[in-house]
Amino acid sequence: MRQALEAAKPVFWKNPGRLPLDAARSRLSVTSDAVRAAADRLARFAPLLAALFPGALAATGGIIESDLLPLGDWAAQGLPPGDSVWLKADHLLPVAGSVKARGGFHAVLCVAESLALAAGLLPGAEADTRALATDAARAFFAGHTLSVGSTGNLGLSIGILGRALGFAVTVHMSAEAKVWKKEMLRSAGATVVEHAGDYAAACAVARAQAAHDPRNHFIDDENSRDLFLGYAVAGLRLPGQLAAKGMEVSSDRPLCLHLPCGVGGAPGGIALGARYALGDAALAVFIEPTQAPCMLWGLASGRRDDADIRELGLTGLTLADGLAVPRPSGLVAKLMEHVVDALATVAEADLPRLVARARQEGGLRLEPSAAVALVGPAMSRAAELPVLAGRPATHIVWATGGGMLPDDDFAAVLALAGEGR
Ligand SMILES: Cc1ncc(COP(=O)(O)O)c(C=O)c1O
Repeated sequence: MRQALEAAKPVFWKNPGRLPLDAARSRLSVTSDAVRAAADRLARFAPLLAALFPGALAATGGIIESDLLPLGDWAAQGLPPGDSVWLKADHLLPVAGSVKARGGFHAVLCVAESLALAAGLLPGAEADTRALATDAARAFFAGHTLSVGSTGNLGLSIGILGRALGFAVTVHMSAEAKVWKKEMLRSAGATVVEHAGDYAAACAVARAQAAHDPRNHFIDDENSRDLFLGYAVAGLRLPGQLAAKGMEVSSDRPLCLHLPCGVGGAPGGIALGARYALGDAALAVFIEPTQAPCMLWGLASGRRDDADIRELGLTGLTLADGLAVPRPSGLVAKLMEHVVDALATVAEADLPRLVARARQEGGLRLEPSAAVALVGPAMSRAAELPVLAGRPATHIVWATGGGMLPDDDFAAVLALAGEGR
């Protein structure tokens, strides 16, 4: 394994530590009750979100959720005839346009809720949360800063909601972060600090700056339960979405989630939420770029966040900017030891081709970080994941972002694949 990783060759690694949920449960530091509490919090604050973003969220009453869309035959190539492939359209999630919305919004709401309860802006935990969409609340939050290290999309979700509530927001961005994400954040009124180094370095600076300031609330992507819990809510909501489409999940028809992985929070949360909600018939495969397989290396080496892809001679430089991370989250790596089924990597040269294919065949606007998930179904079948053996499976390719990608940025990726717009 190490040699293939060092050579930046695509690999598929089956997690030998995967356990049935009953055996894993006592070892998991995030409980299903905690995930349900996060879902309850998002429901409590939905009226506030609808008030802050009426154009995007009035129709759903402030619930931020995406559709499950069927993918055509093009996505099922290499699969047995009984398999079906769906797309989870988080790239079109309202307001923040990526998988980071649920986690980022939940983490911001945790900070806002605890400050508001302590200051009496919310009289109690069950109070009408629209009280936080007032001038008085905005003036109060303006005395507090939210800070975060981000490759782009997490910063956007925290920046957009944080600013809408009135917080000062500082986003520390790594070298890979795309210019359009920085510009969008600045126009929302956030301060963007650009770092020459990688993602871990940007987070370290943000963490150190916040440490001495009680009014600076650092949302730690490398170690945040509140982020993780927000992502996990997506998994909890899956049974309802699947049932609405008449899709069954059982040991005879397993569900396989294909999830792009950076630091691990988003895919880890979704994987655990889905496992709690659907049991052992819900599988999760994480996909990383060959230049930044941080979760794979953290789990395969057993060293979690002590493991760093730079030990493998890899650069961490990848077109998949959201996945350009040298070390996984320690919190998530530990949780995933017994939960994730497999991790796969995708060659750098394939990233533009995957984006172009998704556009041509499916009319989709995906960013490279999201398009990596498209390789999951065929790779999982080729590697003969044991739970899939001899059974028809439902695959969900989790499209984690790209809907807000500006035309020029999208065209630039397509051009790398030799395509015009
Ligand atoms: C589009 C996209 N997909 C996937 C991810 C991976 O999420 P995580 O870093 O929580 O693993 C990110 C992270 O920023 C992202 O922007």
